[in-house]
Amino acid sequence: MTISPFRSDILKGKVAFITGGGSGINFGVAKALASHGADIAMMGRREDVLEKACTELSKLGVKTFFKGGDVRNPEACLAALDATAHALGKIDILVNGAAGNFLCPPEVLSPNGFKTVVDIDLNGTFNMCRYGYKYLRDTHGLIINISATLHYVGTPFQAHVSAAKAGVDALTVNLATEWGPEGIRVCGIAPGPIGDTEGMKRLAPGDTGEKMKKDIPLRRFGETSEIGMAAVFLASSAASYITGHTLVVDGGQWLTKPPMVPRSMVEQMMAKSLG
Ligand code: COA
Repeated sequence: MTISPFRSDILKGKVAFITGGGSGINFGVAKALASHGADIAMMGRREDVLEKACTELSKLGVKTFFKGGDVRNPEACLAALDATAHALGKIDILVNGAAGNFLCPPEVLSPNGFKTVVDIDLNGTFNMCRYGYKYLRDTHGLIINISATLHYVGTPFQAHVSAAKAGVDALTVNLATEWGPEGIRVCGIAPGPIGDTEGMKRLAPGDTGEKMKKDIPLRRFGETSEIGMAAVFLASSAASYITGHTLVVDGGQWLTKPPMVPRSMVEQMMAKSLG
């Protein structure tokens, strides 16, 4: 658990709405925002998960609200946003976290499989931004799109999510420029491998995760609270002139490759050449 460098009331009076907020990285974001005073609303497909998450966050002394719904359904997005504004008064921060993923080679992925992921990750993000706009315009609010680093390179078995998240990043830049004049900031967070999440269970099954750590410059997985702190930073006045930027929080993972030869071989070669 990351210790916050921020005062615990910096988001007091703000209302954050988080899609997929009941579990994993998005619950980490919800918890971090609530720990700094924000009231929290959540939308997701599993109402029992949302209810449990809200009960836990209420213990932090903030107001909570949840509404079941699927971000693929524009009417459900609108209904959840309207219900939140009614229950909590307004919306200052919209976090688009709802996502779907699985490993699959593109040559066997069905068109509907590809479409399903693009519908959740990209179209769902658009739906929420589209219907959240009127509320965020009123509060000079902030959108945080949860992205990924998969599409910065060619990541095997991830064509569907890479395409969707590249679209999400394009939306982040576009909406930042179109809605900046209304006082709305639009940013993204691109998490790397975050331990103990549904995403990691799906993308790094069995002992593959342990092997993956050796190739991460910081040599560990991230924690959901570290993504949460990135969100708190973006929501804080420390980031008031930042918009259109997607903050990578991945321990340096996407920047590097495994060494071409083992270090011992390099040392042998050096010993030879240096005499
Ligand atoms: N490999 C290949 N194709 C798959 C698949 C897999 N592991 N899982 C689902 N699909 C395909 C299905 O076969 C179907 O295509 P078809 O109609 O051509 O057969 C299509 O995707 C939709 O599947 P369905 O199970 O009906 O979708 P859903 O809406 O119930 O679930 C998913 C959406 C598939 C993304 C599901 O994994 C999900 O709900 N994920 C949410 C949680 C999550 O992924 N978290 C990690 C985020 S990083």
